[in-house]
Amino acid sequence: MNILITGGAGYIGSHTILELLEQGYEVPYSIDNYLNSEEDNYKKIEKIANKKVTFFNIDLKNKKATKSFFKSTKIDAVIHFAALKSVPESVENPIECYQNNVGGLINLVQAMQENNVHQLIFSSSCSVYGNPEQLPVNENTPFGKAESPYARSKQIGENILEDFCKANKDFNVISLRYFNPAGAHPSGFIGEGFTERPNNLVPLITQTAVGLRDKLTVFGTDYNTKDGSCVRDYIHVVDVAQAHVKALGYFDKMKRNYQVINLGTGNGTTVLEIIKSFEKVSGEKLNYELGPRRAGDVETIYADNSKAKKELQWEAKLNIEDMVATAWKWQQKLKV
Ligand code: NAD
Ligand code: WQD
Repeated sequence: MNILITGGAGYIGSHTILELLEQGYEVPYSIDNYLNSEEDNYKKIEKIANKKVTFFNIDLKNKKATKSFFKSTKIDAVIHFAALKSVPESVENPIECYQNNVGGLINLVQAMQENNVHQLIFSSSCSVYGNPEQLPVNENTPFGKAESPYARSKQIGENILEDFCKANKDFNVISLRYFNPAGAHPSGFIGEGFTERPNNLVPLITQTAVGLRDKLTVFGTDYNTKDGSCVRDYIHVVDVAQAHVKALGYFDKMKRNYQVINLGTGNGTTVLEIIKSFEKVSGEKLNYELGPRRAGDVETIYADNSKAKKELQWEAKLNIEDMVATAWKWQQKLKV
């Protein structure tokens, strides 16, 4: 089975390629434009797995280049990670976000259709739920108000794919809604790259601990949660990667040709609990301050993960300590 990974040099893509290689998929193909990653990541993957990756520098916004890739390469299924993921940057530059996340997706689907490639896994996000009224959120929970152009780009992406599947019964799509991916490969050789300034909690913690930042601010301590800070469903990137391999095996079992599946642990963890876990695992004292709420933050969100368990036979195996320990190992090697 020839698998194409778009955005394979990026954070979740690189871990997924590694997982595919480790589970016997011979030579995965990857395309990336290195907007938020480096080509060198493939070398690291190849070194860990002792196997080859075939990669191409292609921008999915370039319709012609995307189509000509599919014309010249036999692909059976696509895992589509390539997108801009920064929420604040999507607020500053919404057009760039939509061009990439929506325009790139449309080019990809058209190129797939023209070349009879009918299986697609789409990276969606828990941000499609907005600020949910009921917890945990399951796949039938309706889309909430999008808090950013980024979140809206994922809602639009899902809508496009669902409509496309209605019109094309031979096309199969699985939208995986990731909650809060964190952590790094246990080798410490691949992890979350920081071409752009990181915005997510765990990289900000490790950058502060390594001295790249003065301090971390906890955004809000007056929420209606056990310690006043926000609750999220943090999930280890290796667990997320493994779910994609399981999803490839689900195409043949799908009862409807468009499926949405949450990828979360089902557990909520507060910001202060993450900090405590980091301090315990690393032995470092983190310099942090308690600050005001961040605009647009959801108070609490965590996944109902029963559909992933039932349909994919997948469940997260790693815990918060595994996440902060591997992120810390990666940060110490990275030093940037
Ligand atoms: P990442 O930025 O590390 O990886 C994305 C990769 O796509 C990068 O290597 C980038 O260079 C590439 N890319 C971007 N635009 C491209 C284009 N037009 N053509 C070709 N390549 C392009 O991000 P990630 O954390 O690995 O996220 C992967 C996917 O998962 C994204 O779709 C993201 O929106 C989604 N997601 C991420 C998170 C998270 O917290 N990391 C949570 C939910 C969903
Ligand atoms: C986590 C918690 C912050 C930084 C975003 C996207 C979502 C998905 C995951 C892509 C929150 C708190 C953070 C800091 C803090 N990505 N925090 N101090 O906002 O849950 O979700 O990433 O799809 O779509 O919106 O993740 O890592 O930014 O924040 O206290 O310096 O950490 O308030 O409670 P978030 P995050």
